[in-house]
Amino acid sequence: MPRLQHKTVVITGAASGLGRATALAFAREGAALALTDIDETGLLAVRDEADGLGARVVALTGDITQSQTHSQLRDLALASFGAIHGLCNVAGTLGAGTIDDVDLDRFDHVMHVNCLAQLLAIQAMAPPLRASGGAIVNVASVGAQGGLPLMSVYCASKAAVLGMTRAVAVELAPEVRCNAVCPGGIDTPMSQGLLASVSADQRESLLGKLTGRQLIPRFATPDEIAATVLFLVSDDSVFLTGSVLSADGGHTAW
Ligand SMILES: NC(=O)c1ccc[n+]([C@@H]2O[C@H](COP(=O)([O-])OP(=O)(O)OC[C@H]3O[C@@H](n4cnc5c(N)ncnc54)[C@H](O)[C@@H]3O)[C@@H](O)[C@H]2O)c1
Repeated sequence: MPRLQHKTVVITGAASGLGRATALAFAREGAALALTDIDETGLLAVRDEADGLGARVVALTGDITQSQTHSQLRDLALASFGAIHGLCNVAGTLGAGTIDDVDLDRFDHVMHVNCLAQLLAIQAMAPPLRASGGAIVNVASVGAQGGLPLMSVYCASKAAVLGMTRAVAVELAPEVRCNAVCPGGIDTPMSQGLLASVSADQRESLLGKLTGRQLIPRFATPDEIAATVLFLVSDDSVFLTGSVLSADGGHTAW
């Protein structure tokens, strides 16, 4: 019997990488899905993949830094499925660059996509999540807990996600649980793009810093991290709220 047959889950960033893997993991467990992404082509392809797995699925193309994306997606999910039980804030952006590259536009963009957008999604979904006793999962990063080169703004935005996660958990308790997951490197277009954009020497140094500390010294597959997101929405994690789960192959273990 699928574990999430009676749940409806909202997923941001569903067109690619971890968001796509998360959508398909929930689809396999019988959940109804409300998906969003700014990449319409990718989003519709994942919608069709989930549909092919037998999932009930709706999709809305939009920019998650705009609050109307979330209110429209909430209304679509409620009209289609009647309730919302989970919100997975997966979408993100790297905005990689040296400290010299930092300017207000880059800072605002990364903070808005990685942090503000998660809060806007939570704001829109909070009423139905309260009604259903639902759960929120915010995707942060190992970069929230330790520094990574070329990612000063990214690390700041992901550290902000952890503070926000705890505050939301406190404010929405006891009806709604809110947890964060901190993945290490995942093999997705985001990490592939970063590694392709630097010189061979920089790539080796970057890989050393990303996976060199890990006890399991490789990138995670998107499916491995999607399983952690699914756990945090499911009733298997019913006593977890305000927590930060490291899914980083042991990067932060020592
Ligand atoms: N890949 C990694 O190594 C890694 C490691 C730790 C954490 N993460 C986090 O995992 C999450 C997923 O990343 P990924 O690796 O799958 O990246 P990805 O680039 O493959 O996917 C990110 C998705 O977010 C969407 N997106 C970006 N800006 C958006 C916007 N303004 N509105 C709507 N959608 C938008 C993109 O279109 C894309 O589909 C992110 O929060 C990322 O920070 C990734």
